[in-house]
Amino acid sequence: MIPVCEPTLIGNEKKYADQCIETNWISSSGKFLEEFEKRFSGFCEAKHGVSCSNGTTALHLALAGIGIGKGDEVIVPDFSIIALANSAIYTGATPVFVDSEPRTWNIDTEKIEEKITGRTKAIIAMHTYGCPADMDRINEIARKHNLKVIEDAAESHGATYKGRRTGGLGDAGCFSFYANKVITTGEGGMIVTNDDKIAEKARLLRNHAFIQPRFVHHEVGFNYRMTNIQAAIGVAQMENAEKLVKMRQENAKRYNEELEDVDGLTTPPSCPYGTSVYWMYGILIDKERFGRGKDEIMRMLIEKGIETRPFFYPMHMQPVFRNMPGIDCNGKYPVSEQLQEEGFYLPSSSHLTPEQIKNICDTLKSLGK
Ligand SMILES: Cc1ncc(COP(=O)(O)O)c(C=O)c1O
Repeated sequence: MIPVCEPTLIGNEKKYADQCIETNWISSSGKFLEEFEKRFSGFCEAKHGVSCSNGTTALHLALAGIGIGKGDEVIVPDFSIIALANSAIYTGATPVFVDSEPRTWNIDTEKIEEKITGRTKAIIAMHTYGCPADMDRINEIARKHNLKVIEDAAESHGATYKGRRTGGLGDAGCFSFYANKVITTGEGGMIVTNDDKIAEKARLLRNHAFIQPRFVHHEVGFNYRMTNIQAAIGVAQMENAEKLVKMRQENAKRYNEELEDVDGLTTPPSCPYGTSVYWMYGILIDKERFGRGKDEIMRMLIEKGIETRPFFYPMHMQPVFRNMPGIDCNGKYPVSEQLQEEGFYLPSSSHLTPEQIKNICDTLKSLGK
């Protein structure tokens, strides 16, 4: 079986995690936390790193940190994981969905302004499957309408936009370190930002808004802390960060060479304004031209020992949102719907071998017309 994605733990992960146990520093203080925040924010070319428990809590902390709350609206891509919309809901705000553009599968910047109202306070731009969204245009729209910009960079560790690393391109960037991410801590997350105030607020809210005197609180915070053991794994991952990014990109190159000319199959966007990190190698299947549809192909691949995953399910089609007062699910989202209908991703672990990629591509091609 070739799993759809496994972590690549090829360095000092075990050694550093063992050090936490040997020294009793297993909770949310310890030398690895500081080191990981420093190294990861440096990698993103951002001033601050605020570690937290996962990518969803990073998004919630970032929104809370910029002051999003009840009555506000937050623009999110319709084609995304539910963590974006949910994090807006956690703050009391309402998510507003925008369709994707076909070229990059990212939020369609031409369709953002028509969704802005007097209540809109922020845009979350997600770098879908590792391909950066058009941040200059998004920042320009945000400036014009006095909005904050949060990058959801959970899938884009190491990807670049016009030569700059994702994460530090808006007001705050949010990362996940879940086991399938390019850099992992098992579970984990981080906010990176160049804004001193956002960093300070996120740090405060991450830890129950503790201030002095201790146990006297002036606002509602959360326990969204990362542990020193997670950070220890993160530090070990950072020692190989450039290599891990390169491995994903080289795998994508091999996949592209095999699949680019297959009729009815669309390979991932080749990122018009930067470099994708190809977190997942996603493809689209045109049922008519390829000869079989996505669901049938995924079923046949698993029978042949190749695990895959379907693309996201659009936000406007989510039963939980269709039944939620105040959330508008009635717009038109043709690109998002097409991506859901035709898209799935192939095995994408960094440590895939060229032979495995060849085998996956040969098997996939044999299922076409
Ligand atoms: C784009 C995006 N945002 C947010 C998340 C949520 O991250 P986590 O699972 O660490 O909460 C994910 C997780 O896969 C993701 O892909």
